[in-house]
Parts: sequence; structure tokens; C-alpha cells
Amino acid sequence: MEKIKLIETASDNAFILLQEGSKKPVTRNLTPGIQVYGEKLITIANVEYRFWDPFRSKLAAIMLKGSSVSIKKESAILYLGAANGTTASHVSDIASEGVVFAVEFSPRAMHDLIRVSIPRMNLIPILSDAMRPESYKNMVTLVDVIYQDVAQREQAVIALRNAKLFLKTDGILVLMIKSRSIDSTGEPEDVIDNEVKKLGGFFKVMELIELEPFHSDHVAVVAQRV
Ligand SMILES: C[S@@+](CC[C@H](N)C(=O)[O-])C[C@H]1O[C@@H](n2cnc3c(N)ncnc32)[C@H](O)[C@@H]1O
Repeated sequence: MEKIKLIETASDNAFILLQEGSKKPVTRNLTPGIQVYGEKLITIANVEYRFWDPFRSKLAAIMLKGSSVSIKKESAILYLGAANGTTASHVSDIASEGVVFAVEFSPRAMHDLIRVSIPRMNLIPILSDAMRPESYKNMVTLVDVIYQDVAQREQAVIALRNAKLFLKTDGILVLMIKSRSIDSTGEPEDVIDNEVKKLGGFFKVMELIELEPFHSDHVAVVAQRV
């Protein structure tokens, strides 16, 4: 019989599934029987899990790389750049008893995100510009985690503006940076270094994780509000 093993990660409801020598991230499905983007489902000991593709999701990639990012089942998360809800749906699985405020400014992506959120009571789509957090101030509570994946130039500015309004002291920022989105001419290390320096004073950087081979030119910055 095929041997399958689930290894816990630092986050609730997120596991690494060991199967035939390969390691695959999965999350416990909050909405059993429902797929979001055609991902495979697997049932182990009467619990259904969704496969989480690290090539499609940067958060899955850092989980697979052993990041210490810890999202609890009761956590409140502010997700900036939720797109059509691929990763946001897995964050909603993880924070099964918490809440995910999912900000996205593209109406087309928001259309899909709303569809994903309908059976997920903890996923709140917000059509807004993450550069202007005061525009959603009345919809978002204080949060434990800000997850930012906006592929924009002003990464640090967006993170700081949102953290000042919404992130609890000791709260965690997970920032996905693509050096070429910030500056296509500079050396990637310098560009990322420069952006990380802008977080200093407000955040203590805890991890810098390169996302190769899953996402080229990307680095994940994990930092704690001080
Ligand atoms: C790389 S994609 C996000 C992928 C998504 N995080 C996932 O893993 O499924 C970046 C998204 O950020 C959105 N975005 C870019 N700038 C934004 C802004 N200022 N406010 C809100 N959303 C923004 C884009 O429309 C796009 O959907």
C-alpha cells in the first residue's frame, strides 16, 4: 500500500504531505468537496486536504522551504494583492476560525475572488488600492499578519502604511518582493536590500527566503513589528 505521511508546519491546518519520496504542501479544506482552481483533493483519516502548488503560490513555496511563518487558526490576516483568490483560499483554510481581509484593486480579479469567498465565511473581499489603506479603514480590524504580494514599485511604502493602521505590535509581515518590479536596472540584491532597509525602525527582519526554483527573482521578507 502507498505510504502517505503528513508533516506539521509552523501554521495551523497547513502540512507537508510526504508521498512516494516527494513533498507537497496541502491545507485542510475548510469547504470539503469544493475546489478553487482545479487543485487535487485528498482525504486522509476522514479529513479532506487541498494540494497547494508552490509554483502558483509564493506562500506555499516558503512553507515548503521550512519558513517559520506561523498563522494560527484564530489569526486575523490582511492580505494585500489577493488576485483571484488562489493563495487567499489556502490562507482561509489555515485561519479557519479567524478572518482574512483580502484587498485587490483589479475588478476582474475581484470578480473571481468574490466567487471564491462565497462558501468561505472567513474570507472578506475588499475592492481597494493597498496604497490607500484609509479607504478600507472601516472594514478591517487589527490583524496578526499582513501578507503582501502586490508586484508594485513601492513595496515598503505599502507595507508601512498598512502596518501603521492595522498590524498589532509583534504582528508579522510577510512581503513578497520581485526585484524587477521595483527597479529593472539595478542589481537584484541591492534593490531588495534597499527595500528591506526602508522597513527598519518599524520592523525587525526575521527571515529572507529566496523563492527559487518556484518563483525566479523573488524574495520573501518575514518581519515582526517592533
Ligand atoms: C502577483 S499577483 C498576486 C497573486 C496572489 N497573491 C496569489 O498568490 O494568488 C499581484 C496582485 O496584486 C494586485 N495589486 C497590485 N497593486 C495593487 C494595489 N495597489 N492594491 C491592490 N491590489 C494590487 C494586482 O492586481 C494582482 O492581482
